[in-house]
This record gives sequence, structure tokens and C-alpha cells, in this order.
Amino acid sequence: MRRFDQKVVLVTGGSSGIGFAAARAFIDEGARVVITGRDPGRLDAARISLGDHAIGIRNATGSAAAAAELADSLASARLHLDAVFLNSGIARLAPLSSVTEALWAEVFDVNARGPFFQIQALRARLNDGASIVLNGSVNAHVGMDMSSVYAASKAALISLARTLSKELMAQGVRVNVVSPGPVETPLFGKLGMAAERLELAKAHIRQMVPLGRFARAEEIAATVLHLAAAESSFIVGSEILVDGGMSQL
Ligand SMILES: NC(=O)c1ccc[n+]([C@@H]2O[C@H](COP(=O)([O-])OP(=O)(O)OC[C@H]3O[C@@H](n4cnc5c(N)ncnc54)[C@H](OP(=O)(O)O)[C@@H]3O)[C@@H](O)[C@H]2O)c1
Repeated sequence: MRRFDQKVVLVTGGSSGIGFAAARAFIDEGARVVITGRDPGRLDAARISLGDHAIGIRNATGSAAAAAELADSLASARLHLDAVFLNSGIARLAPLSSVTEALWAEVFDVNARGPFFQIQALRARLNDGASIVLNGSVNAHVGMDMSSVYAASKAALISLARTLSKELMAQGVRVNVVSPGPVETPLFGKLGMAAERLELAKAHIRQMVPLGRFARAEEIAATVLHLAAAESSFIVGSEILVDGGMSQL
């Protein structure tokens, strides 16, 4: 018996990086997995690569309306969820002097507002005992240059794991957070930096990690599955940092 046999799992942002690795790991453990993303090409490619146990739903994380649409799509497919990995997120780096209201709104919409309203909308589709895992970040715990808005959005998300665990406890639903350190994913290529500057930035970040390297997405997925599975039944409203020691040593 595998850990997710007969289980249905939702992974937002499952078309790339950590979400894709988590979707594959859930499927390897027996789950049917619904992945979401915005870009139809990437979503389709991911669904095909994941095989018959994956379903792709195009859906943008950000607004309450989009969250309601996602819940409606799941209802139309008659799917109830045993685990949810709210993973989709964006990083934008800017010094204090250049942060605009638009940048703040974009980052908070995707990283905090979206997941909050997804939990609200998906509540009715959760099976008793379901587990929700949020994707935080080590950035919520360290004062890295130019990360103020991103870090604050992740701190907000981490706070939701506590308060919403309390609210959902009567339904037997746990909410926890995995907070990765730097992970080798396409996210860094989306920061808008020229290739040479990006390599310098990544070398600088690598130096901040006691283990001296970026994580592989599969190393984060392993903790996501642990928090999503019944084996972590006594972990509630909590956060596991998977950061190569970056926040601790
Ligand atoms: N990589 C790291 O070092 C690192 C470290 C700590 C935390 N994290 C967190 O891990 C999560 C995943 O990041 P990643 O590194 O795997 O990045 P990634 O490879 O860029 O993947 C991001 C995924 O999220 C989706 N996504 C982004 N914005 C979305 C939106 N508004 N609506 C729906 N889907 C959206 C993307 O789909 P589209 O391509 O269709 O937009 C993609 O599937 C993020 O929350 C990030 O903050 C990453």
C-alpha cells in the first residue's frame, strides 16, 4: 500500500519546479493529482509528462473569483481532495526605493491573497482529515537584500497556517508550511536579471547556505508529502524549513 493510494491531491503551480516535482512524487505514491498553472503550454506539457494520473486545470492564483472557479471545476469533475499543496508563487526582487504599489499588489495577490481565498473556496471540497501544505520560504526568516515584499508575503502565508489550522480543526483539516531555501527551479530565470548578473546572484545566495548548494525540487517535495500524509498527523499549524541550514546555522 502506497501513502496516497485512492487519494486525490491538488497542486497549484504544478506545471513547473517544486510543484511539478511534488505532483510527480504524489503520483509515484499512488495519488490522482490535479495541477494548475496559468501558461497553457507549460500546463499541458507537465500534464502529459506526469501521465494518466494527472489532470490539468488552467487557473490563476490571486483572486477570490479565480479560487471559486477552481472549486467549481473540481466540483464539476466530482473531485474531493485529501491533500492540497498551495505552491504557486512568484518572486520579485527590488530595493526599498524602487518598490511600487503595483509590485506589492502583484506579489501579495499571488503569494498571500490567492492561497487564502483558495482555502476558503476549497473548504467544501476537502475530505475529513485532509491536509493542506503551503509553500513558504526561508526568506520570511532572513533579511536578504531586495526581498522585502516577497519575504513579507511569505510571512503572511506562514501566519495563515496557524490561524486557519485553528478554524479548520473541527473538520479534521491540518494546515502546515514547507519553507524551502534556494531551490534549483525556473523561478530564478523569471527575476528579469541578465544571465551574467543572475549567475553572480546565485553564487552569492549559494554562499549563504551552510550546505553550500541549492536544493533539488525533489528534496522539497519529500517534505511536502510528509506533511500531506497521515504519518504527520500530530503536526498542525507548523512550519518545516528545508533550507540547508540557511536560517539556523
Ligand atoms: N525556487 C526557490 O528557490 C524557492 C525558494 C523558496 C520558496 N519557493 C516557492 O516555491 C513555489 C514554487 O516556486 P518554483 O521555484 O517551483 O517556481 P517556478 O518553477 O517558477 O514555478 C512556479 C509555478 O507557479 C505557477 N504560478 C505562478 N504564478 C501563478 C499564478 N498567479 N497563478 C497560477 N499559477 C501560478 C507557475 O505556472 P505558470 O508558469 O503557468 O505561471 C508555475 O507552475 C513558489 O511559491 C515560491 O515562492 C521557491
